Amino acid sequence: MDNRPVGLFDSGVGGLTIWRATKSLLPQESLIFFADSGNVPYGQKSPAELHDLTARIVRFLQRFDVKLIVVACNTATVHALDHLRTAFPEIQFVGVVPVVKTLASQTHTGTIAVLSTPATAESPYLTGLIEEFAADKRVLRVGIDGLEDAVESGEARSPQTTALLERNLAPVVESDADVVGLGCTHYPFLRDRIERILGPGVRIYDPSEPVARRVRQLLEQRDALAQDEHPTYRFFTTGDPAHVAEVASDLLRFPVTGVGYADI
Ligand code: DGL
Repeated sequence: MDNRPVGLFDSGVGGLTIWRATKSLLPQESLIFFADSGNVPYGQKSPAELHDLTARIVRFLQRFDVKLIVVACNTATVHALDHLRTAFPEIQFVGVVPVVKTLASQTHTGTIAVLSTPATAESPYLTGLIEEFAADKRVLRVGIDGLEDAVESGEARSPQTTALLERNLAPVVESDADVVGLGCTHYPFLRDRIERILGPGVRIYDPSEPVARRVRQLLEQRDALAQDEHPTYRFFTTGDPAHVAEVASDLLRFPVTGVGYADI
């Protein structure tokens, strides 16, 4: 048994989709969520910048004696997780990457689509996943600019965001893709809109729950699951704490209070 907290971080509030799945699967775990909102979007940063930012966040989370860190961001995982594992061998990390393997096994038409930030769409890591698991499939890599910003600014339900989605999803609608992966942790907050645009013939895959299950599995293996009837939920940001609290509360429909400002 280990009641120390689990740390999670993202470029902003998107990683809260994984926070939510983790809280629901592991209700006795205390969680510390870090939103690097002062540096969002990660999709436009170089790998070197991502190495630097993510290492700073890990050092910040280490102050809270976290027992595991979830990199709740596809862009940071594909560009920086190997680097973090080398730089912090004492920390156990869980990352999130587009669910290419699942999509390849579930498609009936042979066409799959991955929605992500442009940085993830263009990453060698995604190319590797496709070569390994979907070499015989047609893969649409849909890199979308600006969606995470819409979620960050509290515009997830605005008509402009719907229009942005419609424009970017047009190639998927016009294709015979029958399975679509959400390869950015901000996107599950837009899931109902994405579903409406793609129609009932397309199944959407969100990695939040599989990531939470992986956290549970790793903690179980170390005998490090918490047994705490009163777990705590703490939030930090490099952005504006009041804004993050408001947007996060609205997205989660859960009162996110006491967000702290973090200078990393
Ligand atoms: N939420 C992040 C992801 O999963 C990235 C958004 C961004 O900052 O570009 O990729």
